[in-house]
Amino acid sequence: MNTHWNNTNRFDSESETWDKNPGRVKLAGQIAQSLKEMVPFQKKWNALEIGCGTGLITCPIAEKVSSITAIDTSEGMIETLKAKMRARQTCAIEALVCDILTEPDNEKPRGKFDFIFSSMTLHHISDTSGLLKKINAYLHPGGYLAIADLDEEDGYFHENPDEKVHKGFPRDALLAQLKDAGFGDITFSTAATITKINREERKMTYTIFLALARKRKQK
Ligand SMILES: C[S@@+](CC[C@H](N)C(=O)[O-])C[C@H]1O[C@@H](n2cnc3c(N)ncnc32)[C@H](O)[C@@H]1O
Repeated sequence: MNTHWNNTNRFDSESETWDKNPGRVKLAGQIAQSLKEMVPFQKKWNALEIGCGTGLITCPIAEKVSSITAIDTSEGMIETLKAKMRARQTCAIEALVCDILTEPDNEKPRGKFDFIFSSMTLHHISDTSGLLKKINAYLHPGGYLAIADLDEEDGYFHENPDEKVHKGFPRDALLAQLKDAGFGDITFSTAATITKINREERKMTYTIFLALARKRKQK
């Protein structure tokens, strides 16, 4: 049994300055562009985003679908996204404080979705298999999943050595977990690269994969 990682304090405290990091904004732009190129969007889709943060991916994707339910465990992140929505008068996004793994009844997303997406969140959630199975249950049969996250990395990507995270994901292992969770038509591509000085003071390039999959109509 995986212990659930609680990273809410970190993301709450960074929520107001999150969008002031140019590297992060650039990365989100690359991931959003990659989603636009790779996902066969339909304007009628209802979408769910897991770990939306301040909405750096939510906002550009909102124009491609009918609605997005955007969830995040961090109240600070959700408040920042709501402030953006008020400024832009965007009503196609519903932002909810919700933990996708524990999802209390009064906070959980309602109904099933045509498309679920997530950017740079998978490595923050301990139970990858449990998460993928939960995502599968939230999709209509044939519905699409898109996950952008770190390829397996050297373990120095994050500044804080004590932060509980997965050190990226080997694509073949994630492929097997996706199949096991009930997904088919699985493809991987490279959505973005980040070159940065890591906490070991070494200049490293990290790659971000985009995994696309569809919920199998029958198990
Ligand atoms: C690295 S941030 C990415 C934010 C945004 N997707 C982006 O690309 O800018 C990861 C986000 O996942 C959220 N998160 C972590 N665990 C979660 C969980 N179990 N359920 C929902 N959100 C979670 C965090 O609060 C944080 O906002």
